[in-house]
Amino acid sequence: MKKVKYKDIEFPINKGLTFEEYNLLQKIDEQFSKDDLYIEYSNNNLIVHLNKLNLDKFEKLIKSVDITNESIFYTILENIKSIGSYGIKGGKRVFVDYNKERKVSNRKSKEKKRNKQFYTAGHNFSTENNECPEKFLNKIICGDSEQVLKELPDNCIDLILTSPPYNFGLEYDNNDDSHYWENYFKKIESIFSECIRVLKYGGRFILNVQPLFSDYIPTHHIFSNFFIKNKMIWKGEILWEKNNYNCKYTSWGSWLSPSSPYLKYTWEFIEIYCKGDLKKPGPKDKIDLTPEEFKSWVVAKWSIAPERRMKEYGHPAMFPEELARRAIKLFSYQDDIILDPFNGAGTTTVVAKKNKRRYIGIDISEEYCKVAQNRINSLENDKCHVQENFLD
Ligand SMILES: C[S@@+](CC[C@H](N)C(=O)[O-])C[C@H]1O[C@@H](n2cnc3c(N)ncnc32)[C@H](O)[C@@H]1O
Repeated sequence: MKKVKYKDIEFPINKGLTFEEYNLLQKIDEQFSKDDLYIEYSNNNLIVHLNKLNLDKFEKLIKSVDITNESIFYTILENIKSIGSYGIKGGKRVFVDYNKERKVSNRKSKEKKRNKQFYTAGHNFSTENNECPEKFLNKIICGDSEQVLKELPDNCIDLILTSPPYNFGLEYDNNDDSHYWENYFKKIESIFSECIRVLKYGGRFILNVQPLFSDYIPTHHIFSNFFIKNKMIWKGEILWEKNNYNCKYTSWGSWLSPSSPYLKYTWEFIEIYCKGDLKKPGPKDKIDLTPEEFKSWVVAKWSIAPERRMKEYGHPAMFPEELARRAIKLFSYQDDIILDPFNGAGTTTVVAKKNKRRYIGIDISEEYCKVAQNRINSLENDKCHVQENFLD
């Protein structure tokens, strides 16, 4: 017979159990397998023996019975919910031995043997960071990023969040987004080179891209190669699931035929690169992530609906505020300096400001810069209204 291991948690109870609580204890016993969880009642103690648990089912059961929020069972529920380290298997949280089968012995020495992050060897990034001149801070700047960025000192930006033009042929303000591919990559990469230069040591570059599948151009891979060649650490990739199933099912030429089925994508890519170090230290009191945000956002697939206000803002290719909010809160501290060199209608900058970061937004279009500035201004107006109401 296999021996089940448990995590044991003890809860003292002063006045014993009520009739309803006692019934609930029995229901838990009936509805949950002893291998998953069982609760012992002894000497004014409840001892929870926890191996794995369908937390939704457990919560529903507790909420379905007639007990008050002060009941010991709510304390147990909250306590189990707050356990941050667990695996997931078959819809259950696994609290014991969840990482056992994945454990690799002598991990550190094997990493060394493989030459982890080999492509960053010999980088010459300075570890000394610089102040960003005041005149650039909290500004929307109209101009070509290739030129504007040259005015910034080395190592002065904490986080870059951006989405470059995709070369899809979209009609941007007085600008056709359709160039000979090699020229396109040359231009964007020369801006990215400046971005790497201005990033602080430990700074992050977060890139939202959408390849042009119909041209068979893997834009995200080409840019990743560029960053890797420039010795940035590839931290990882987030799939932005847009759930926009509005594409038609292949043209008749390939319908129901293996001759050349056309693949459909409802997601975009978010690539993350770090300069010099994966760790970016910062003051503890400037972290503004809740446990729930952290737990859900480190799962690298974000389901976020596409931006719906593109008509309102007059920009054809915006990313939604929620995407920027997650990227900024997960990868930066309050007061950090956030840069977007393709700021468009200013989603990055408005979200940075909303979340108490400093910002610099650059876009080549005067029209988009006006929209970005208006979004910032209306935040400030809202703040004044809130303050005025407060004074009333
Ligand atoms: C995909 S859009 C970014 C949209 C933005 N993320 C938003 O949510 O509004 C790319 C932007 O890059 C701008 N752009 C193109 N070339 C540029 C350059 N050389 N320097 C600065 N901005 C440029 C375009 O005007 C466009 O607004």
